[in-house]
Amino acid sequence: MFMNSASVKSTEIGTADVRDHKGRGWVYSDTVKEHFFNPRNLMLEEVDETEYNAVGRVGSPACGDEMKMWLKVDLSADKIIECKWRTFGCGSAIAATSMLSVMVTENSGMQTEAALKITPRDIMERLDGLPNRKIHCSVLGDKALRAALNYYFRNSGQFHRVIVEGARVIDSQTNVTDRDIEEAVLDGADTLEKVQQKTKAGIGNPDVVAEVEQLIRFYKEKYYG
Ligand code: FES
Repeated sequence: MFMNSASVKSTEIGTADVRDHKGRGWVYSDTVKEHFFNPRNLMLEEVDETEYNAVGRVGSPACGDEMKMWLKVDLSADKIIECKWRTFGCGSAIAATSMLSVMVTENSGMQTEAALKITPRDIMERLDGLPNRKIHCSVLGDKALRAALNYYFRNSGQFHRVIVEGARVIDSQTNVTDRDIEEAVLDGADTLEKVQQKTKAGIGNPDVVAEVEQLIRFYKEKYYG
């Protein structure tokens, strides 16, 4: 079942310092907690999809969670005037998507071109940070927004604006793609060894190791700075 208001209120994450099963801690900012406990633009009621001209649904390979987003885009101004969402995701996904939905609709709406330029790091800045291991959760809302905008571009005949994010095979022996490496980095693998443990990229195919390392650097810079 997707998250609803009851599950928000009953969730136990209310303290700043949260520990995992190994006792490692991390801290959520007050802004993250505020958006988690009071998510903006969360879709609670039954959805009449005919009222929206953009719909996107994505899943996270890193954790298996899902996100669905509905947008109303003003065709003449090319602006997002409404952004609703619903998720199976965790507290960080809820807070990050809540903030994203504010960013794209504040000041009478953001133009679609500007919305496509929002990065997970922009969302994190507005949230006053997210723990590194939760960054992949902020990517979920970002990907749902892109999927919804692609839907809008297709349905409004703007085919040249559809963004195709095709995966490229990096290691033909294992069929590991650049997207697999991206997901491994988002899942916390920050060295070649750790990425290879998750993907097997380059093991038995040393010719591609340099490209794998380059992609690890690229995604680390993109998501973690
Ligand atoms: S969205 Fe799945 S762990 Fe955060």
